[in-house]
Amino acid sequence: MYTLFLYCLIAILNPAIWSGPTAQAKPPPPPVQCNQTGCTLTNSYGAWGSDRDYCQVTNVTYPKTEEELRLAVAYASQHKLKVKVVSKFSHTIPKLACPGSINPRGSGANFLISTENYDTGIEVDAENLMVTAEAGVALRRLIDEVEGVGLSLVAAPAWEGVSVGGVISTGAHGSSWWGKGGTVHDHVVGIRLVVPAERSHGYAKILSLEAKDPLLNAAKVSLGLLGVISKVKFSLEKGFKRSITFNFTDEVGFEDTFMDHAKKHEFADITWYPSRRTAVYRYDDRVPLNASGNGVFDFLGFQPNSILISQTIRAIEVESGGNSKAKCPIANTVLGFKKLVANGLKNNGLIFTGYPVIGRNGKMQTSGSCLYSTSIDKTCAWDPRIKGLFFYETTAIFAGVSKFADFIRDVKRLRDLNPDNFCGVDMYNGFLIRFIRASEAYLGQDEDSVVVDFNYYRADEPSTPRLNQDVWEEVEQMAFFKYGARPHWAKNRDLAFLGVTKKYAKFGKFVKAKRNLDPQNLFSNDWSDEVLFGKEMDERGDGCALEGKCVCSEDRHCSPGEGYFCKEGLVFKEARVCKHFQSSVS
Ligand SMILES: Cc1cc2nc3c(=O)[nH]c(=O)nc-3n(C[C@H](O)[C@H](O)[C@H](O)COP(=O)(O)OP(=O)(O)OC[C@H]3O[C@@H](n4cnc5c(N)ncnc54)[C@H](O)[C@@H]3O)c2cc1C
Ligand SMILES: *[C@@H]1O[C@H](CO)[C@@H](O)[C@H](O)[C@H]1NC(C)=O
Ligand SMILES: *[C@@H]1O[C@H](CO)[C@@H](O)[C@H](O)[C@H]1NC(C)=O
Ligand SMILES: *[C@@H]1O[C@H](CO)[C@@H](O)[C@H](O)[C@H]1NC(C)=O
Ligand SMILES: *[C@@H]1O[C@H](CO)[C@@H](O)[C@H](O)[C@H]1NC(C)=O
Repeated sequence: MYTLFLYCLIAILNPAIWSGPTAQAKPPPPPVQCNQTGCTLTNSYGAWGSDRDYCQVTNVTYPKTEEELRLAVAYASQHKLKVKVVSKFSHTIPKLACPGSINPRGSGANFLISTENYDTGIEVDAENLMVTAEAGVALRRLIDEVEGVGLSLVAAPAWEGVSVGGVISTGAHGSSWWGKGGTVHDHVVGIRLVVPAERSHGYAKILSLEAKDPLLNAAKVSLGLLGVISKVKFSLEKGFKRSITFNFTDEVGFEDTFMDHAKKHEFADITWYPSRRTAVYRYDDRVPLNASGNGVFDFLGFQPNSILISQTIRAIEVESGGNSKAKCPIANTVLGFKKLVANGLKNNGLIFTGYPVIGRNGKMQTSGSCLYSTSIDKTCAWDPRIKGLFFYETTAIFAGVSKFADFIRDVKRLRDLNPDNFCGVDMYNGFLIRFIRASEAYLGQDEDSVVVDFNYYRADEPSTPRLNQDVWEEVEQMAFFKYGARPHWAKNRDLAFLGVTKKYAKFGKFVKAKRNLDPQNLFSNDWSDEVLFGKEMDERGDGCALEGKCVCSEDRHCSPGEGYFCKEGLVFKEARVCKHFQSSVS
């Protein structure tokens, strides 16, 4: 029944099929909000910044030029203020961009520098195949600008709602094992960085880091810890098109063949839907500019979403408490719909008419049309204002392909014990598997790696236990602890970062650069002090495992009152997960 109902809803309301009357726009709200008493910073997902995980900012500034940026850093440096930079997007899930203390109510002054108005300068050097952009420039603008003069930025993440400074600072990536690979920072050849300085130097100075400077390897992926990036210089290639086909097929053996797939297709990826036993191979190859086709990839998950659908799905998620089966028909419908519309590929820019879809590189990699929604009843699906979807995003980076294959074998074993447990993840985007190359960046990957992302339900209230909580905790602990995967810096729950610094051989070099450039530690906050520099974690409070703030070791870390107890994993016995006593799957 759900199936038919949802299918109709999606079919009627999806913009690919039907365009509603446009009223007033509902773009995402600005992340910094101020009133007479001060300002707050929020994450665009609502992952933090709400009442329960507040970010108080006492002063914010919006520089428009590099000199104003330098003066802003000088102001913080002179007054010894904890300071952070944030973009106009604030899309990063960990609380990286909040200045100072994580529980800062009444804890003194801090300072926030927004790059929102430092977002126009783009200089293309066509002869040398390079572009230099100001840190606040939106990725979409940068891409359109370089494509406009017949060039291409080869790598970009799937999501275009990021700034130039933000996208490199957290190691964001698309997918490629070819050339320089799928991470954006590996296409960076220069950075202008503003750092604190002595009084005699006016309290702040600008470093111009060029390709051979070892500091560039610290600055490429810096989590905002070194100073403020003013400008980024990227290497480009001659413009090209891409030809994409999605193959919705059986999952059998994908853990053995993914390497061939990644080697054969320049921008390959795989999406795996465990409950549906389906793997979707993305055949994505470079073709010459004169190949015919004006396609776009307007990824379905980033299209303007009917507020009504988001809320309906959320209601079903919540109401299906105690019964994961209820989610399976939805997972099925969603997958069927994705196949029908090729995930959002559009041959002529309007509608999908058949494979392959061929279009300019700049239109085929990164998207985010929900950002520009002009209809009052459509937003990005996760918009916190609409009480629609709210989810966790786990992203694990596996160095070494054999570890990744073993991880998938383990997840398949866990799935086989009760496939319905995986319907929840398949309602979102299954497991998205992408490829990135070894990098020189100190906080980048030192080997060719495989990245897997999955999203799953997060309760509105931190203390509410969730259906299949135990399954996601087990998968998460397998990835990060059994197979030593590294957490994506811009995603994940806190526990994924346990021991992260030991996973990076060059972490010491990064710390040295940090001490050197920011000796007063102004660009740190509680998150980085705790996760990167080992400051004592908060005490392990009741229910801490539910929100991923700890791995449970006692029942009180779960929710014994609601029947959730700390138990061992089913496949990975060393895992400790919060399990409902009736949800035993064996
Ligand atoms: C819907 C969605 C899809 C996504 N898809 C992908 C994906 O496909 N692949 C992927 O890898 N990631 C993905 N991400 C993660 C995203 O790429 C990162 O969160 C990225 O860092 C966001 O950039 P931002 O401009 O919003 O940065 P912010 O969140 O504003 O800042 C991020 C960090 O960078 C620092 N920073 C920002 N600007 C500067 C500056 N000028 N100087 C110094 N430090 C700075 C901040 O202090 C902070 O530490 C996705 C995120 C969302 C919301
Ligand atoms: C101002 O914002 C703070 C949070 O920053 C909030 O607690 C307070 O209620 C707001 N005051 C007014 C008058 O809106
Ligand atoms: C806020 O910062 C600016 C510098 O950007 C400074 O001139 C101003 O005095 C500060 N305001 C407060 C209230 O501290
Ligand atoms: C899709 O993948 C399957 C299994 O890998 C393969 O047999 C089939 O030929 C592929 N289809 C296309 C159109 O490439
Ligand atoms: C594209 O251009 C190349 C030469 O640059 C030519 O050999 C080829 O035939 C052209 N293809 C099409 C489809 O026009």
